[in-house]
Amino acid sequence: MLNFPLPRIDTDKKLQKLLLPYCRFKIGDIWIDPIGKHKIACIDSSDLKSISQLMDGKKAALAVHDPPYNFVAFEERETQKFILWSQRWIENSYRSLKENSSLYVWLGADQKNNFKPLAEFFLMMQQSGFASRSLITMRNQRGYGTQKNWMAIRQELLYYVKGKPNFNIEAEYTEIPKVLRGYYKIVGGISTDNFERSKSKNIRAGNVWIDVQQVFYRLQENVNGCYAQKPLKAMERIINASSKKNEIVIDFFSHSGTSLIASEILARRCFTSDIDPVFCEISLRRLENYRLNKKTGWQNSNPFAEEIAADKKLKNYLKEKYDIKPKLD
Ligand SMILES: C[S@@+](CC[C@H](N)C(=O)[O-])C[C@H]1O[C@@H](n2cnc3c(N)ncnc32)[C@H](O)[C@@H]1O
Repeated sequence: MLNFPLPRIDTDKKLQKLLLPYCRFKIGDIWIDPIGKHKIACIDSSDLKSISQLMDGKKAALAVHDPPYNFVAFEERETQKFILWSQRWIENSYRSLKENSSLYVWLGADQKNNFKPLAEFFLMMQQSGFASRSLITMRNQRGYGTQKNWMAIRQELLYYVKGKPNFNIEAEYTEIPKVLRGYYKIVGGISTDNFERSKSKNIRAGNVWIDVQQVFYRLQENVNGCYAQKPLKAMERIINASSKKNEIVIDFFSHSGTSLIASEILARRCFTSDIDPVFCEISLRRLENYRLNKKTGWQNSNPFAEEIAADKKLKNYLKEKYDIKPKLD
């Protein structure tokens, strides 16, 4: 395995600039899949005109969004700005979705600051036209905390619907076997235990997901340089539960392209966007790499490994600032 990590790209402007020449995107560009399945747009998702261009009259069955939220900046004014901005991409989602469709939003809550922006987001959603369905919590393995508080290991996932979409319950079953017998219930006058009543030998995920591994460098799906990658397993669960084959899935905050890869694997079409040309390029490379090598990420290497190795400026910058150099394990 090639050991060639990348630091967080979004907070290092110089690294971004050095990577830009290797990106096929500039603001306003839309990549259309030559085999007619997916699209990647380098646009601002809060801009209606840009989103209309991406959708081009088509409607999606499912939206899965993972907007950036910066806890450090959540002053009162910043929260309001975040909510007003969110209102715009939520409206754009509503217009892009079919009459009966689903919307999932990954969000966080700052526990030391009145759980912002989750509370304000809930209120804003009351006026959005979407109806609330579930508040899912995914358990992260790594957390943050001190000796004076509960360790923070939760990741919120909000589930809303427009109209009455299908929900495929098969997708909800985990790989965890049921072990506890004995929850009795009378069915047709006969006392039955939970094993006799169940449709599956495995437990349902429910709205607390404890069986999803957070992405880290030992997983194949890891994309170094991306700071907020969501696990493929979670994305696949959402897509399986709330869409059918060949339907369109939209994700306005592509980043490492998790929805795109999950859609490719599950034979859906994904229309995705990111405002940053570097993350659009990474999403596209992830798809190309998957189609070519059936790999879902780069584990502990990175999407630009070959170019960096051949680019003195980039190589020296990574070595001097981060002491990173390409090496084989
Ligand atoms: C939290 S990450 C999404 C992570 C993604 N779910 C994944 O698994 O890789 C948020 C992304 O939103 C992008 N972004 C921020 N503002 C945006 C905007 N106005 N329109 C489109 N994308 C935006 C950022 O560049 C960043 O890549």
